[in-house]
Amino acid sequence: MYKIIRKEDLSPVVKLLEVSAPLIADKAQPGQFVILRLDEEGERIPLTIADFDREKGTITVIFLEVGKTTTQLGKMVEGDKILNLIGPLGNPSEMEDFGTVVCIGGGVGVAPLYPIARALKESGNTVISIIGARCKDLLILEDEMREVSDELYITTDDGSVGHHGFVSDILKRLIEEGRIIDRVIAIGPLIMMKVVVGVTKPYDIKTIVSLNPIMVDGTGMCGSCRVIVGGEVRFACVDGPEFDGHLVDFDNLMKRNTRFLEEEAKSVEEYKRRCR
Ligand code: FES
Repeated sequence: MYKIIRKEDLSPVVKLLEVSAPLIADKAQPGQFVILRLDEEGERIPLTIADFDREKGTITVIFLEVGKTTTQLGKMVEGDKILNLIGPLGNPSEMEDFGTVVCIGGGVGVAPLYPIARALKESGNTVISIIGARCKDLLILEDEMREVSDELYITTDDGSVGHHGFVSDILKRLIEEGRIIDRVIAIGPLIMMKVVVGVTKPYDIKTIVSLNPIMVDGTGMCGSCRVIVGGEVRFACVDGPEFDGHLVDFDNLMKRNTRFLEEEAKSVEEYKRRCR
């Protein structure tokens, strides 16, 4: 059992949990994820590791309450225990001094981006970060990202803070201003990553995306998380979660990610009914 030692509401629907998991904390690297199960009958869900503290033996996850399990998880409090937590899973982010790296995060995608941006900075890169959300209240980790970035840009869809528009607008502007960009890392909604890749492709700027397909076992056996990259089938849990964005078939992945919407809606409804 894994004890929750800290809980923070980053917004009414975005929650942070710091969980005691010494063995995972000891091995965790930026870019990796865990799979958790709340109880015997619970589904297994992947969550990217937003931070880890080897000395305290804790990992931090940040998630949006979007389905039944994340809603249930969001209701847990300090002292509660999670039944199963496996990880760290997936490959760590490639880390070296690339030069200037633009780190782009959308929504809760800023959470996994943060340890990557921090490690890139520590590796000697100039880090330009662009973080965005639908509105000011959903923007997370602004202070943390500012701390590890040489420049930070903020965007919101509704203009409630920062640039009124999308993260890709700022990226486009930087490129058009002639800034030298050696690499882009984008993590967020699939449509955001697809648009970012569309911006960098004509300029041949290496762009890494972190994919979040539906996962079951997280060990490459079930096939649930398959994605098409460069025309080949890859499994996000063992081959990813990061891939060369210019090679990813986003349309196929967007379609696959909707395949359980009906079941998910039923499950949320049933959970709410039981809570009432
Ligand atoms: S989650 Fe089963 S193969 Fe990746």
